[in-house]
Amino acid sequence: MTAPPKTYHVKSFGCQMNVYDGERMAELLGANGMTPAPDSTSADLVVLNTCHIREKAADRAYSDVGRLRRKDGSRPLIALAGCVAQAEGEEAKRRTKMIDMVVGPQAYHRLPEMVAAAAAGSRPVDTDMPAISKFDVLPARRRSGPSAFLTVQEGCDKFCTYCVVPYTRGAEVSRPAADIVAEANALATGGAREITLLGQNVNAWSDGSAGLDHLIRAIARIDGIERIRYMTSHPTDMTDALIAAHAEIPQLMPYLHLPVQAGSDRILQAMNRSHSAASYLHTIEKVRAARPDIAISGDFIVGFPGETENDFAATLEIVDGVRYAAAYSFKYSPRPGTPAATMPDQVPAEVMDERLQRLQARLAEHSLAFNRATVGKATTILIDRKGRLPGQMIGKTPWLQSVFVETDASIGDMIDVVTTTAHPNSLGGVLATTKAA
Ligand code: 5AD
Ligand code: SF4
Repeated sequence: MTAPPKTYHVKSFGCQMNVYDGERMAELLGANGMTPAPDSTSADLVVLNTCHIREKAADRAYSDVGRLRRKDGSRPLIALAGCVAQAEGEEAKRRTKMIDMVVGPQAYHRLPEMVAAAAAGSRPVDTDMPAISKFDVLPARRRSGPSAFLTVQEGCDKFCTYCVVPYTRGAEVSRPAADIVAEANALATGGAREITLLGQNVNAWSDGSAGLDHLIRAIARIDGIERIRYMTSHPTDMTDALIAAHAEIPQLMPYLHLPVQAGSDRILQAMNRSHSAASYLHTIEKVRAARPDIAISGDFIVGFPGETENDFAATLEIVDGVRYAAAYSFKYSPRPGTPAATMPDQVPAEVMDERLQRLQARLAEHSLAFNRATVGKATTILIDRKGRLPGQMIGKTPWLQSVFVETDASIGDMIDVVTTTAHPNSLGGVLATTKAA
C-alpha cells in the first residue's frame, strides 16, 4: 500500500500518436485531481508511454523503468503504458518488480482506477481493446499549444511483414467526423492554430462514405485553424480526392509524409507493401502536379531480410527520384511475432550499418538541397518554441522546416521571415521587415 499519488509525470516515446496519447493521459489524471510534476524525479506517479516499433525502443523502456529508482532507494508509482505495455502485458511485471500497472493504448481511459488499485497494492494489467472507445470517456480538450495533434484513425490492417503496429494498435478504426470536428473546435478555442491529424494509416480514414479530404475541408472551416497537416499515409490509400485537396484547400500545408520503405519491388513484395516502386513514384507525380511546391518526406528500412546490394541500390534510386525534403531511416529490426522475423537471409548487422550510413548521407544531401532552395525567400513561420540563444525563437515553415530567428514575438505567433542560411535539418532567418529596412 502506498498513499494515492498527488502528482504525475507522463513521458512519451516514439511516434506523434504516443505524444497525443500522453497528453490525453495527462489531461485525464488532471481531471481526476492530480497535478503535473515537472519531471519524473519529483512525481508520485510516472507513466512511461512506450514505443515498440524497434527493438531498442522496448529495451530503452525497461532501462528507463530501472532509472526511476531514486538515490534514497524510493521510487514513484510506475505505469507502463503504450505499445510495449500492449505487447508485453503480464510479462512486463515478470521482467521487473518496479512496474505497478500495465496499460495498453486502447485502455488508458481506465488509468485513474488502475492508479487507485496500484496504490492499494495490486498490480493491474489492462491490454483490452474494448468496444467502447476511450475517446467517448476521456475529458474534453481544453488548453492547447499552437500546434496540436488530433488522432482521427487508429490501428492498421495492412500487415507489413516487419511491423508490430497491427498487433499493438489493433485493427483500423476511424473516429466519427463529428467527434473529430468537435475536438478540433475545442483545440482551436484552447489556442491551437495548427492541427496535425494523426493515424497509423491516416489516409484510410473514412466515415462510411467520406474520406480524409472531407474531414480536412470540415476542419479548414474552423475559425482560428490556419494550418492542417496529416500523417502517416500509406501509398495505396492516396486517393485522387485527397490529392486534389492539396490543390484546393489553402490551410492544407504543402507537406506529405509518404513512406516507401524500400525501392526494390522484390523487397516491397516481401514486405507486403502492396505497391511497387513505380506506382509509388506515380502517386508522387500526381501529388506534385496538384501542388508543385509540396515537400515529401519518407520512412526507410535498410537490411530487410534478403536485401541484396542491388535491392539497396534501388532504394537509393528512389531517394534520388523523389528528392525527399526530410526522411527517417532505420535498420531493420526483427520483431517477435511478425512474419519477417523468421524469414531466411537476415542481413548481418555490419551490412545494415554500412547501408544505413550511405542512405542517410544521400538523404541529408537532398534535405540540404531542399532547404538551400528556400534561402532568400519570404515565408511565414508558426513559432512553436524558444531557441537556445537569448532572443531566439524557432518556428515552422509551411514545409515543416524549423527556422531560427531573432524576434520578440511569442510562441503561437505567426510571423513573416526571410530565410538566410540552410542546414540539413533547419534554416536561419531574419524578420521580413528587418530585411526590408
Ligand atoms: N524495423 C525497422 N523499422 C521499422 N519500422 C517499422 N517497423 C520496423 C522494423 N521492424 C519503421 C518503418 C515505419 C516507421 C514508423 O518505423 O519505416 O514507417
Ligand atoms: Fe506498420 Fe505497414 Fe501498418 Fe505502417 S502500414 S503501421 S508500416 S503495418
